[in-house]
Amino acid sequence: MIAKVFLALCQIPVFRRIAWKPIYEYLAKKYRLEDWHFMNYGYEPLDGSHLELKPEDEPERYAAQLYHYLALEGNVKGKDMLEVGSGRGGGASHIKRYLEPKTMVGLDLAQNAVDFSNEVHQVEGLSYVQGNAEKLPFSDNSFDVAINVESCHAYGSVDIFFQEIKRVLRPGGILLCTDIRLNEKIDILEQQLINSGMTMVSKKDIAPNVVKAIELDSDRKEKRIVTDIDENFAKAFAEFAGVAGSKIHTDLMSGVRAYKWFVMRND
Ligand SMILES: C[S@@+](CC[C@H](N)C(=O)[O-])C[C@H]1O[C@@H](n2cnc3c(N)ncnc32)[C@H](O)[C@@H]1O
Repeated sequence: MIAKVFLALCQIPVFRRIAWKPIYEYLAKKYRLEDWHFMNYGYEPLDGSHLELKPEDEPERYAAQLYHYLALEGNVKGKDMLEVGSGRGGGASHIKRYLEPKTMVGLDLAQNAVDFSNEVHQVEGLSYVQGNAEKLPFSDNSFDVAINVESCHAYGSVDIFFQEIKRVLRPGGILLCTDIRLNEKIDILEQQLINSGMTMVSKKDIAPNVVKAIELDSDRKEKRIVTDIDENFAKAFAEFAGVAGSKIHTDLMSGVRAYKWFVMRND
């Protein structure tokens, strides 16, 4: 019931601006688990391809794969790259280490998440800063590639965010954006991307990949919830984390929710 009311209120831009920051500040402060690096539902390729990972990255394979396969669309090697909504920092770290952009900056609204990321992910050329997607603290033409993973649903104005991305991307720069929406709202996200003035290079319905990842990662998440999360919050956390049988899982399977990625070029 509380989750339903919260999600309904999230349709209001002012509410989104106020509500999400304290939640992510709290999560990063309360759960300083140094081996928890991601907060997305994951991605599993369905064409039989297999990503080689270092043993220490194996536990969070599916969340890392969402970054990896999307970033492959951006040809990021040797580029200056930005992530907006970097959360606990695992995605920016994965891309820096595996796909070798020249520099990688992760930006997040939650100062506690930024502090956590700077402590836990110490990689040359990688840093994290606090900031707001709607007012990026960077000069015009600063980056070649920007990535945004399961985050823009929380922004007050997605249109302002895309204008900011267009401003900080160099001419020809690439935006890689992926997120979840109610099925009837996913076309709005696509239209907002088109309205930004950037050119759509490609788009992909990844709901089947996300559903598969949720199923493959469910046992691990459920075990971690038992060991790491207060009993009173366990049920809410299972929904937040998206275990098999959660509302996110069933909504993605039934088509009530859509999950897509988009590749945009700043022409
Ligand atoms: C679901 S988490 C995803 C984190 C990360 N992308 C990942 O996949 O692990 C959403 C993140 O977006 C961040 N966020 C929400 N609103 C934001 C804003 N206006 N500007 C920047 N980051 C924001 C939150 O603090 C949170 O870390």
